[in-house]
Amino acid sequence: MSLTQRAHKLIRQHFQDPSIPRDLAVDATCGNGNDTEFLSRLNFRQVVGFEIQEDAIIRTRMRMDELGVTNVGLILDGHESLGRHIAGKIDCVMFNLGYLPGGDENLTTHAVTTLVALKYATEKLSDTGIISLLCYPGHPAGMQETKTLQRWLKTLGKQFKIQAKMSRNRHEATPILYAITRKKQQPEDDDTIKFASQDESRSLHTIDPVDEETI
Ligand SMILES: C[S@@+](CC[C@H](N)C(=O)[O-])C[C@H]1O[C@@H](n2cnc3c(N)ncnc32)[C@H](O)[C@@H]1O
Repeated sequence: MSLTQRAHKLIRQHFQDPSIPRDLAVDATCGNGNDTEFLSRLNFRQVVGFEIQEDAIIRTRMRMDELGVTNVGLILDGHESLGRHIAGKIDCVMFNLGYLPGGDENLTTHAVTTLVALKYATEKLSDTGIISLLCYPGHPAGMQETKTLQRWLKTLGKQFKIQAKMSRNRHEATPILYAITRKKQQPEDDDTIKFASQDESRSLHTIDPVDEETI
């Protein structure tokens, strides 16, 4: 299973609980619209997609129209301007970073702008919300971005839980999927995100922001 599929699985499982609101979901990097479509099918009241490439926005719009999807709004703007477009709480944010496979590799996400968006998304994350963050350190901008985001994740307050998922044959360039959720107030609650098989959960780590060794 690819990490993109795992991101979908993670989010699907998170929202299995019918008491968790599905008001607003954001696809921070629309691209070809795979994640946008996934979120729209999860029945969020509203899905908003950000993308800097007009072609990608047009393709995604056509795709949504063909599917008859009516809960998706697309914004031709960088996710760093999230705060200009969305003021309220967000239940789900997907960051599938990097560049479009087969597209212009120069049109990739960058550490500085991703960090602006991620900080805002974290601030606006609803109590029961989730952020998925898929990092690709296998190219120079992606490596710098991943390292910057990892440093920042460690500074996130204790009220957040961060889990990392990566393939077993891990090396410096291996993509990493992070899940960010708010910790529940009751300390006795088991708020671990569970994966379907035990095998998968073995490669899932919780990052203690004060423990540099656990990433
Ligand atoms: C890996 S692709 C996303 C794949 C997409 N989620 C899908 O399902 O097809 C990364 C996308 O991020 C876009 N991107 C780059 N910088 C961005 C920014 N600052 N804000 C929003 N999108 C950006 C790129 O144009 C590219 O389409």
